[in-house]
Amino acid sequence: MNVLGIETSCDETAAAVVGDGGIVRSNIVFSQVALHRPHGGVVPEIASRNHLEHLPRTIERSLTQSGLEWSQIQAVAVTYGPGLASSLLVGLSAAKALALQLKIPLIGINHLEAHLYSVFLTPGAPRYETVCPFLALIVSGGHTCLVRVTAPGHYRRLGQTIDDAAGEAFDKGAKLLGLEYPGGPAIDRLGALGSASCIAFPRTRVSSAAFTGGLSPSLCFSFSGLKTALLYYLRENPAAMHEPLLKDVAASFQEAIITALVSGVERALQRERVQTLVAAGGVVLNSRLRVKLLELAAGLEVRILLPAREHCADNAAMVAGLAGNGQGLTGEEAWALDASPNLELGATN
Ligand code: KG4
Ligand code: ZN
Repeated sequence: MNVLGIETSCDETAAAVVGDGGIVRSNIVFSQVALHRPHGGVVPEIASRNHLEHLPRTIERSLTQSGLEWSQIQAVAVTYGPGLASSLLVGLSAAKALALQLKIPLIGINHLEAHLYSVFLTPGAPRYETVCPFLALIVSGGHTCLVRVTAPGHYRRLGQTIDDAAGEAFDKGAKLLGLEYPGGPAIDRLGALGSASCIAFPRTRVSSAAFTGGLSPSLCFSFSGLKTALLYYLRENPAAMHEPLLKDVAASFQEAIITALVSGVERALQRERVQTLVAAGGVVLNSRLRVKLLELAAGLEVRILLPAREHCADNAAMVAGLAGNGQGLTGEEAWALDASPNLELGATN
């Protein structure tokens, strides 16, 4: 089955064609980053207008690149949440119109579940069903959580951030350092040149269950204190905003985020006793995080599945892939779908 996927939850306009849940025939991403950069972050109004402008051509290009005809597409899958309401609506409306016109099924996809599925798009990756139960770390600009995946579509949330997401911490930290948006790649590049042990930024551990919504504090994360620590450090050390110190500050700040994430994953792996670790989301592009997770998995002798670089940040191949693997909302439920900005993992609205 060939599925056309559409993804417009935030600031990437994306379309892809995936065969049988794993054969990526095309994967087109039009990134709006350059349009949002002057504003230092994603502007919802600009995002939705640009989805509207670029989605038709992005869909066309994904079909052309796949080498297939419209008649060979058997379903249209689309992200309906979580994300920016006005952005989600553009993709959802386009998908409904396309499926109606082509007289093929519409499949509604949860963006977080799609991120998880991104690791199964790599050629030679095991099948989703065969690696459950596994531990998953989802780290993106909007989410940071640890989940036990018991079976496809069945999740138990183990931990999450109680304030900023890890990607958000990178973006806010970069802003304080005077680096361009998005901050993750900028800090990654600069940090690779600096010393991670130069400044001892706090490794915040969540110690009280008061803010964790019943989750174990030891598996939860907090990044807002780190951002404040960076702010105070820069106030006291203005020279650190410039080279030769800037790269060391970037490396040390990055290390604090990565250490918190990797320590949380380690505690969860020890507690859950699963054989496989999955990490997904835009922050998994971070070279230091990838190295540290690979080291951790090797040390604990668990299998680790990371997405290919082109499937880490928002893309539609993960959306089409998950749908082709049999997940997502179909039939009347799909036709009735509205954008669901706060959709949680495992939820349908
Ligand atoms: O998954 P994603 O594309 O969008 C969301 O669903 O949020 O993730 C975007 C986030 C941004 O915060 C960005 O700064 C971060 O991923 N990111 C990185 C890197 N590349 C992107 N963070 C750290 N290091 C990177 N190399
Ligand atoms: Zn995402």
